[in-house]
Amino acid sequence: MEHPEIFHDLTTTKAPFIENAQFHGQLFIHQPYELYSENNQEAWRELYGLLRPKWEKYANGKFMEGIQSLCLNPDRIPRLEEVNAFLAPLTGFKAKAVSGYVPTYLFFDSLKRREFPTTITIRDRNRLAYLPEPDIFHDIAGHVPMHTDLTFADVLVRFGSLANKAAKRHTHLVNGKEKMAKIRSNIQALSRFFWFSIEFGLMREGGRICVYGSGLLSSAEEIEHSVESLQVQRYPFQLEWVINQSFEIDHFQSLLFVIDSFEHLYEEVDRLEQWLHEGKLDHVNPGEPGVNEEELQAFLEVEDET
Ligand SMILES: [Fe+2]
Repeated sequence: MEHPEIFHDLTTTKAPFIENAQFHGQLFIHQPYELYSENNQEAWRELYGLLRPKWEKYANGKFMEGIQSLCLNPDRIPRLEEVNAFLAPLTGFKAKAVSGYVPTYLFFDSLKRREFPTTITIRDRNRLAYLPEPDIFHDIAGHVPMHTDLTFADVLVRFGSLANKAAKRHTHLVNGKEKMAKIRSNIQALSRFFWFSIEFGLMREGGRICVYGSGLLSSAEEIEHSVESLQVQRYPFQLEWVINQSFEIDHFQSLLFVIDSFEHLYEEVDRLEQWLHEGKLDHVNPGEPGVNEEELQAFLEVEDET
């Protein structure tokens, strides 16, 4: 399809194609590859060039294998169908293009189906270092290489299944206020787990600390900071701490948790599920992330499906 010249831009927050999709309520979309501008392609090239030496130094081994398996091109933004052609035969995971923010329930539930909601816009070339929202570099270069590993993929699927289990736990409650408070607490606990593992996790590997969290793997500055800086507290992963720990997204993280392996992370997801069923996630420490009415509603609507 031909597009007027003005639409040739898929820069974060400045993409008419995305605004149009959002205006029409379309969350799952296609990747209109012809709309990437030369600036967009240059942003990918520069980011990849900045990160590659840092990955070699700080990323975990499975990530580096994943980068190889996916045959990502350092010079061009990847086409999702090409990424999926390499990824799906390995673990069944697929990147699925979205127009923007995916509500928590839907995001986690997508993981259960081995679908990864993927942003297709890319950050502004003039702001490569910092971006609060995800972009295609974060999602494809930061997350997707990890999805090539079978154990890590199983972690995501098992974790993703907890959203549905959390939603169905409270059907017996008639007290609206109590029910909402418990669901809110469950969402916070799950989001914190995801944040301190999948997004900002560190791992012990071969006598060193390395990075497996995608927020770190897609940040040219924070990846190094997370491993080297004396301003970062690094502790062994402790579930009781993680689920009660607030986090903020607008600055470098000063507290990070270290796992021993992806098998270890799987065991922690197992424990998270037990704790969910035992009610230990019903009253976690209040704080960030906030949970709005729309997020709660998405969890409540699951009850109606049964
Ligand atoms: Fe992410």
